[in-house]
Amino acid sequence: MIPIILMALLNRMQVDASKHCPHHCLCFDSSHFVDCKGHNLSHIPGNIPHGTWILDLKHNDLTEIRAESFNALWSMKILILSNNKIEKIHLRAFQSFGFLEKLDLSHNCLNSLPHDFSASLVSLKELKLSSNRLEAVGFNSLQHFESLEKLDLSHNQIVSIERAAFRGLSRLRYLYLQSNRLAMVNNGFFFMLPNLEALLLGRNNITIIEAEAFTSLHTLNILGLIGNQLNHLKFKTFLNIHTPGTHLQLSENPWICDCDLQRVFGKILSVRHLHVDDYENISCAGPWQLAGYPLMSVDTQLCVAETATVLVITVTVLVTVIAAIVMAERNRKKNQNKNWNDSDSP
Ligand SMILES: *[C@@H]1O[C@H](CO)[C@@H](O)[C@H](O)[C@H]1NC(C)=O
Ligand SMILES: *[C@@H]1O[C@H](CO)[C@@H](O)[C@H](O)[C@H]1NC(C)=O
Ligand SMILES: *[C@@H]1O[C@H](CO)[C@@H](O)[C@H](O)[C@H]1NC(C)=O
Repeated sequence: MIPIILMALLNRMQVDASKHCPHHCLCFDSSHFVDCKGHNLSHIPGNIPHGTWILDLKHNDLTEIRAESFNALWSMKILILSNNKIEKIHLRAFQSFGFLEKLDLSHNCLNSLPHDFSASLVSLKELKLSSNRLEAVGFNSLQHFESLEKLDLSHNQIVSIERAAFRGLSRLRYLYLQSNRLAMVNNGFFFMLPNLEALLLGRNNITIIEAEAFTSLHTLNILGLIGNQLNHLKFKTFLNIHTPGTHLQLSENPWICDCDLQRVFGKILSVRHLHVDDYENISCAGPWQLAGYPLMSVDTQLCVAETATVLVITVTVLVTVIAAIVMAERNRKKNQNKNWNDSDSP
């Protein structure tokens, strides 16, 4: 008797759920999963079932996320908004998303984030913002992401990062910033990221890395700097990375292969916890005689000229010193003989 009532009840619930499925969308799993992708929707459907866990809105025509667009969807865990034309996210857009774990906003047209962007998203673990038009990263819009583990900001137009912009992200493990327009890595950019494992900065426009830039990253496992504008490095920058092991990726930079560079790489290669993964692919952009050559094939010769100079100086000094000693010795003997002769004469 009881099971029959239960069955009937479950049936009712399923019918209810499908009855409430928004137009154009498909609802599965008692409406836990609502699939509205690829329908050229220009507005977020208004009657999304309240129990929805996963909502897929990718490949539509959304241009903005208004305040309370997703009102009362308290159970949401995954929200996919990629491949739309979203230019603006209004204040309080994600207000009811205290349990949201994944948010995908990649392939949109965002050039900034609202300052309360992170305010409600305290459970968010993964945020994709790749392929937008973001120009700056600031502390305000990220500060409450206390659960965030993966942040993808690749393929934007980011030229500036506020000092310690990521300091609220104490659980962050992966930070993707490749294919942006950063020209410099400042000491303050990656401050207070105690769990960061991967920092990808490839394909930016980086010419300068300040000496303390990576100092506070004690769990850094991968540091990607492929495809930037680096021509020299300071050993101190890398000596300051105190981790059990860090893999560096440094190819496709316009390295100036001189004795200085050879010494820096020589030292990096000799530090046990640092590994240059792509050393074989590092090639010289200058001086012109070496352009195009792999650093590996010329590195033993780069300091030859300097070594020769040092040798010449050393030999010169040695010769001078020996000459001085010989002269002194001669003078001493001469004086001695003179003294003998002096004391001989009565
Ligand atoms: C979406 O719009 C494009 C062109 O505007 C059209 O070709 C396509 O059929 C539309 N898709 C749907 C699901 O309506
Ligand atoms: C890269 O930086 C240089 C200055 O260092 C600047 O002139 C150039 O416009 C930058 N390129 C891009 C793509 O931002
Ligand atoms: C070196 O470059 C080649 C060609 O671009 C690539 O296939 C290879 O994986 C690179 N090796 C390393 C260690 O990065």
